[in-house]
Amino acid sequence: MSDQHEFTAQDFGPDFTWGVATASYQIEGAWNLDGKGPSIWDTFTHGRGLGGLRSRIAGGATGDEACDFYHRYPTDLALVPEMGFGAKRFSISWPRVLPEGTGRINPAGIDFYSRVVDRCLELGVEPWVTLYHWDLPQALQDRGGWANRDVVEWFGEYVGVVADALGDRVRNWMVVNEPLSFVLVGNLLGEHAPGLHSRSKFLASMHHVNLAQAEGARVLRDRATEPVVGTSHYLADIAATGTSAAHRHATRAADAFINRAYIEPNLGLGYPLADCGFLKPIEKYQKEGDEMSIQVDWDFLGVQYYTRLKALLAPIPGMWTLPMFGRDHTSYDITATEWEVNPTGLHDVIMSMHAYGRFPRLVVTENGAAYPDDLIGDPGSTDPGASLRVADQRRVHFYQRHLAEVLRAQRDGAPVDGYFAWSLMDNFEWADGYGPRFGLVYVDYPTQRRVVKDSGRWFQRLLTTD
Ligand code: FCB
Repeated sequence: MSDQHEFTAQDFGPDFTWGVATASYQIEGAWNLDGKGPSIWDTFTHGRGLGGLRSRIAGGATGDEACDFYHRYPTDLALVPEMGFGAKRFSISWPRVLPEGTGRINPAGIDFYSRVVDRCLELGVEPWVTLYHWDLPQALQDRGGWANRDVVEWFGEYVGVVADALGDRVRNWMVVNEPLSFVLVGNLLGEHAPGLHSRSKFLASMHHVNLAQAEGARVLRDRATEPVVGTSHYLADIAATGTSAAHRHATRAADAFINRAYIEPNLGLGYPLADCGFLKPIEKYQKEGDEMSIQVDWDFLGVQYYTRLKALLAPIPGMWTLPMFGRDHTSYDITATEWEVNPTGLHDVIMSMHAYGRFPRLVVTENGAAYPDDLIGDPGSTDPGASLRVADQRRVHFYQRHLAEVLRAQRDGAPVDGYFAWSLMDNFEWADGYGPRFGLVYVDYPTQRRVVKDSGRWFQRLLTTD
């Protein structure tokens, strides 16, 4: 694994966007400061609201403090151009802006995001804003959350408030981050907030999120100045585990369940029910007029790619069961989250999105890897000259291989014109707590010291060398 790469930043084109991404709950901390209302992730990490169940988060971790980005944003954002990046993707915490989810606006919350946007602009960094990265106001969960159809209206109200406040300075918007992840993992698998195991809530939420994506896009176009509107999807490269008809069926079902169900309704293609019978009861939640109001002409699609999934056979052949999928743990290259490293999958998911013929632009809004990083040096040292370093060569190699696939997709005709590394810095990795480190910048949590990793330096060389 050398530090060489066979491309230059210029190969991606002069208008290519290079950025880093984060999400509010994973970095901000300040969970109850300055008028912020609780989110479902506050409730979930505190282990309350589930009949007194204990926390389901590794190590009992919470985002109460996280990276303390709420207070450290001026210096944290300065790391973005320092590493050569021109764009910063971040999300807005809905309950920081609207503590009860609707109605009363929290001026301090608006002011915080306004300052974050201004700081980006002052640094010459383009702010890319995600409106929803999983931290629903708890007050709305108490009214049914995503399973209550009223959420579409609640979401529209919230998007309008943000568009009014930031829409004069923010051009690039992602309405929702990875609907699959919070709808499936939060409502059916119970591993993310709100921690439910309900097929009906899962299906209702899926439909309401798809309606909300369209509503969010409409509100942005109505209220923000010349917005560029997209949304970001978790996309998996789905691999067959055999060649029989049953294997082909399982592969199609997993693809429909994971990738297509959140994309195709917005394109007017409906739900992929023919390939995934498990989704069939979603029809119960569809109302007259929905096929029209769910449609969106996206300005770009956000592609988020981490790993490949293997489609497994249903335990009872022919049954309309939950599509089954697994990961290959035998591959030689596995990350700290046990995700197989499969760079060609990034090319393939980009090409499959391009094949819809409906996305004028594709932007990789997340891609990255967690590895067990070792900090060399003493972060507690008061000697300003003491050097600290993280030699994360495996992450450098990960980025080299994935960026080469972005370039290949571009050469194969896909209009992919941006790439955001996940993540600017180590942060709260949902159910896995603070174990997995995804950052280009190391965070020493006890001291909140930041150390740019070798991978961050690698990007700096790539992006600042002519
Ligand atoms: C994605 C999430 C992001 C982060 C990365 C590792 O699915 O959008 O918040 O957790 O995975």
